[in-house]
Amino acid sequence: MSTEKPTRRITAPAIRKRKGGEPIVALTSYHAHTAAIVDRHADVILVGDSLGMVMHGMDSTVGVPLDLMIMHGKAVMRGTRRALVVVDMPFGTYEESPEVAFRNAARIMKETGAGAVKLEGGRRMAETIRFLVERGIPVMAHIGLTPQSVNTLGGFRTQGRDPRTWPLFEEDARSVAEAGAFAVVLEGMVEPLAARITEQIDIPTIGIGASARCDGQILVLEDMLGLNPHPPKFVKVYGRLLEEIENAVQAYAADVKSRAFPTENEVYR
Ligand code: KIV
Repeated sequence: MSTEKPTRRITAPAIRKRKGGEPIVALTSYHAHTAAIVDRHADVILVGDSLGMVMHGMDSTVGVPLDLMIMHGKAVMRGTRRALVVVDMPFGTYEESPEVAFRNAARIMKETGAGAVKLEGGRRMAETIRFLVERGIPVMAHIGLTPQSVNTLGGFRTQGRDPRTWPLFEEDARSVAEAGAFAVVLEGMVEPLAARITEQIDIPTIGIGASARCDGQILVLEDMLGLNPHPPKFVKVYGRLLEEIENAVQAYAADVKSRAFPTENEVYR
């Protein structure tokens, strides 16, 4: 029997309590091995539907199926022990009605074992958020630039450049907080608006391209690792993985061509 103490996972209510406290560290992750590394440093791991673009070469997140999210959610859960794992509800799985949203969110929770789901939308999703939370599903909301609405937004643009639009975003933030979301992602939003929202609501704001004036930050892991040749402008890049992979593959190809391989008895250690 193992004497190792099991690690307790961070919960959605614990993240909710971090409002105004130590900044919340969040990153996306889509598979077991990277998630295991992220797990040692992040409070929240998001299995984002950005995986459609990052892992599967899609043009947007609109085409991501629920089964794919569940598959990656399971992988991330297998690789982690500590962080709160949040799985994105993909486009078309929650907008129709609170009942449809519950059915699909319950599938995510049961099949992956994740601790929460995330969905996009402010006022228009408040009723659904309340419905899920009242039935035992913690919800992270997502407002500002909502990539699943790329076809109605007309592109990925920073939101709130015109201060006359701020009341709408502020109302979105208040609605999701009042509906019971435990945190809200603010994506692609001008700094003064992100700061106003962070001051106005009592749940943590987690920014991405929304300045440092939030209660936490999230980035797409591949962007910050230097695996995306064209990362969004706001991303601080901490690694040079593209270059490293290129060099490693080049060295491997050279080894194959020169037959520079381990001898048979060195193959399995
Ligand atoms: O899908 C995703 O990765 C996200 C983050 C960008 C917040 O929603």
